[in-house]
Amino acid sequence: MKKTGFQYHKDTSYDRHNMTGHYLDWQNQPGVFKQYPGIDPVLLPQDVHSPNKKLSSLIKETAGSATLQAVSLEDLSLILRLTYSLTAKARHTGGDFYYRSVASAGALYPAEIYFATQGINDLDDGLYHFSVARHSLCLLRRGDISAPIKKSTQSANINTSILTFFLSAIFFRSAWKYRARSYRYHLLDTGHLTENLILALKALELHPALSLDFDDTDVNRLLGLDETKEVCLALCHVPGKQAHEDKKTMEITELPETVKNASRVSEEETDYPEVRAIHTAGVEFTSPTESRPVMVHELGLGADKWTEINPADTWPETLKYAEAVFHRRSKRNFVRQPISQNCLTALLDGLCAGCFGPDGEMSNNNQSMCIGFLVGNAEGFDPGLYLLDTSSSSIGMVAPGFFTERMAHICLDQAWLANAAVHFLFMSDLNLVDQAYGPRGYRYAMMTAGALGERLYLTATAMGLGCCGIGAFYDMEEVELLGLNSTSRLLYLVAVGPVKSIKNFA
Ligand SMILES: Cc1cc2nc3c(=O)[nH]c(=O)nc-3n(C[C@H](O)[C@H](O)[C@H](O)COP(=O)(O)O)c2cc1C
Repeated sequence: MKKTGFQYHKDTSYDRHNMTGHYLDWQNQPGVFKQYPGIDPVLLPQDVHSPNKKLSSLIKETAGSATLQAVSLEDLSLILRLTYSLTAKARHTGGDFYYRSVASAGALYPAEIYFATQGINDLDDGLYHFSVARHSLCLLRRGDISAPIKKSTQSANINTSILTFFLSAIFFRSAWKYRARSYRYHLLDTGHLTENLILALKALELHPALSLDFDDTDVNRLLGLDETKEVCLALCHVPGKQAHEDKKTMEITELPETVKNASRVSEEETDYPEVRAIHTAGVEFTSPTESRPVMVHELGLGADKWTEINPADTWPETLKYAEAVFHRRSKRNFVRQPISQNCLTALLDGLCAGCFGPDGEMSNNNQSMCIGFLVGNAEGFDPGLYLLDTSSSSIGMVAPGFFTERMAHICLDQAWLANAAVHFLFMSDLNLVDQAYGPRGYRYAMMTAGALGERLYLTATAMGLGCCGIGAFYDMEEVELLGLNSTSRLLYLVAVGPVKSIKNFA
């Protein structure tokens, strides 16, 4: 029988009383930088100036003005730097380790970026892989490939695309540590990266449209991926001004084996059939059913009263957008101090803004999950469990009380979490998701959670707060603590609050 998202999530639950020991095989630690032997890199310009924009305006902006006449190589370099770049170095006995502008479970960085160009100044049309390590490109296919991309996607945006980004995940990078559970992290991590990409494109006044629906087989073939090891999870069109004339769809040839082999990241890779099974189950995408669930009302949680959040006109940001991207880190040194009302309201306001780009292509799929939060210590908010209704920008208290300590215990006893002022919760009735969207709906739910997680990281950083994503928890214990119905689950938790080393400027 075909796997469903709910079944996969259940099968990969952590149970305090039934955790199988697992030793990391350091001999087979996956490489974090994809390499294409024999292809000369095209170096991207290094000296590019970051945009001087506020994060709040980018998040809340509903439509890019698309005023750029053309995209230059400098623009492309900046987009990639803001999306996925090396931002910090840690010295280890085995060599230096680099952290990136995006959060990633276990710093395993499963995600890769490719893009197809059409009419970029100073860059031949073609399909490129972006190397994070060298901030350079590898040309994989030469020429205008917009016709095959159009064939593989349902998006109307391809008609004018000057750039199409493809975000993939390499299974073994996360599976090395998280085994069968790793598909959760492939999706959450790639979701994080989509948010960085969308913000970078908006910062350059482009008008991105992200899509999670495309022909998987065709797109993976186009990118030259070994589908058993690496798969495309998201596609992002950047429309230009002119509609392209209709071209004949050319036959896409197989890329050489050396290109496919680049999806291998370790000498001896362990295959996790559960990961491939849930991914393959989602290969077909169905039009969502007429009556899509409004998830916030489907979890078995109720609120007696809903109150509009009424955010201040300006968020208490102390860092600009680009500074927040480059300074973002996971912080765990939370202190038992309250988060200010302004900061918490700004975080909630940010979560209510649309997801996955200004044209709202993905907005329906946002209903595949919903948001709650545990207030531990916040000015103007009683401690308790709340729901956020993003459609009306309102919050409702579900249950009063102090939950964060018990949640820290449920999150594999990561005790420092108890000190965080707020735990944001991304939740879903996964059975309903399966019914409304088919197994591909699991991708929507998890990637949306990841994208909003990255948004929380950046917003927290811009306001001088700490933040850390949490994917490790005993699944049935959180169902019980939160009072979720039997088919609903926590997908992802993101803790935010004042931390020791940085001043809370708000
Ligand atoms: C999906 C996801 C799950 C994560 N889960 C945990 C976790 O359970 N515990 C933890 O301490 N950090 C967790 N993190 C934070 C990562 O460890 C962190 O992003 C990574 O080490 C890179 O460091 P940086 O965020 O400072 O760049 C998670 C991050 C993501 C994106």
